[in-house]
Amino acid sequence: MAVQHDLIVIGAGPGGYVAAIRAAQLGLNVAVIEREPALGGTCLRIGCIPSKALLEASERYHEVSHGLEDFGVKVQGVELDLARMLKKKDAVVGTLTGGVAFLFKKHRITRYAGHGRITGAGRVQVEGDKPEELTAKHIVIATGSKPAAIRGVTFDGDRIGASTEALSYPEVPKHLVVIGAGYIGLELGSVWRRLGAKVTVVEYLDRILPGMDLEIAEEAERIFEKQGIEIKLDTGVTAARVDGNQVIVELGDKEPITCDRLLVAVGRLPMTENLGLESVGIALDPRGRIPIDEQFRTYVEGIYAIGDVVRGPMLAHKASEEGIACVEQIVTGFGHVNYDAIPGIVYTHPEIATVGKTEDELTEKKIPYNKGVFPFSANGRARALGDFQGRVKMLAHAETDRILGVHIIGPRAGDLIAEAAVAIEFGASAEDLARSTHAHPTLSEALKEAALGVLGRAIHI
Ligand code: NAI
Repeated sequence: MAVQHDLIVIGAGPGGYVAAIRAAQLGLNVAVIEREPALGGTCLRIGCIPSKALLEASERYHEVSHGLEDFGVKVQGVELDLARMLKKKDAVVGTLTGGVAFLFKKHRITRYAGHGRITGAGRVQVEGDKPEELTAKHIVIATGSKPAAIRGVTFDGDRIGASTEALSYPEVPKHLVVIGAGYIGLELGSVWRRLGAKVTVVEYLDRILPGMDLEIAEEAERIFEKQGIEIKLDTGVTAARVDGNQVIVELGDKEPITCDRLLVAVGRLPMTENLGLESVGIALDPRGRIPIDEQFRTYVEGIYAIGDVVRGPMLAHKASEEGIACVEQIVTGFGHVNYDAIPGIVYTHPEIATVGKTEDELTEKKIPYNKGVFPFSANGRARALGDFQGRVKMLAHAETDRILGVHIIGPRAGDLIAEAAVAIEFGASAEDLARSTHAHPTLSEALKEAALGVLGRAIHI
């Protein structure tokens, strides 16, 4: 006998678990199918959270090993206990995934362990140790993504791997080669560089962080190189092979590199295998994503999709917002995501954060804009922190003064960008932001100054 629910969510990542909680708040009887033992998806288990735990820990280590003399603090005998650092990271993950399980209980969400496969409109089979057939009027697919591979490079789960392996290397690599200068490559490259590895990032484009504002990305590149991360642009990897404890990375007609770990971070692919999509007549788009309309509806009535399996940036918070909007649409008929106000953050040091349009996009779309730039070197708090590399760049419409994009590289950029996202969400002008009182001395004053800069009247520069 099939078990009946109002809504079945397949996948318990930040898209699926948030959708489930919101649906339960709205009074639905919700089931979530997840095949991993821990809830939380890639983000909590093997993505955002463990990488941030390692970024934080490695930054502390690096700081005490190198950076405190300027503050008059002498530190001696610093030692790395990598096993302990990894254990701490795992503990953070354990707490947070356990937190999701608690939230499910609190909201009376039924969790099914296994692989979910759609067998018809309104029907999902749970495959695994305890097979079960479920029915519901609504099904939300939130199955996320997996690392992309490249031709000539085969993952061996050890020397050649993706982000999951790079979150748990048992020793600091002597030489880590990273393929791809995107979010993952730069974050995990930074972690191992700080812990002492030689790091080479190979990128086939002529720039790092494609899609981010070019000026900010170029500044980031200079800073990373100063940190000792070697970046090889315009370079493609043609093959890689393991030879004992080493990996030989072939770069076409360029000199090959020999290293002891290879991290492939060339993007991610939607996870749609064995979901039963063909059986209900859902065809994927050319990039392997599930096509949806503005209300997250697939071609099939009652089946919706959100997060990394659909169009748009592969970001946890984007998936969560889509999850909320999707179930609100289902229950109330209203629900919306503003794709112009989704921040993106690279948690390197300094952090890089962006929201809205880049300068290149505005130029390409022939949208007239004014630009305000304020360097952290002129911000008192950043000076006191001893962390003043980078800048805030604000772009506002030349006629209406409406803020169109904000791009930050600098201390705590990931936290500072929230103000810019709210400003864009509310349709604020640069003048609005410039006239809002920002506490002194804070890093946020750099945003106010950039807004003043848009208007041609920055005070501290
Ligand atoms: P990405 O799309 O950010 O970067 C991949 C990079 O690899 C690009 O620069 C691309 O040009 C390059 N590339 C592709 N093929 C290549 C080749 N054959 N040789 C050399 N370079 C090549 O992808 P990444 O870093 O793997 O991250 C995957 C997804 O995960 C991203 O969409 C990102 O949004 C998300 N993510 C977000 C994080 C955050 O919010 N802080 C952290 C980590 C991942």
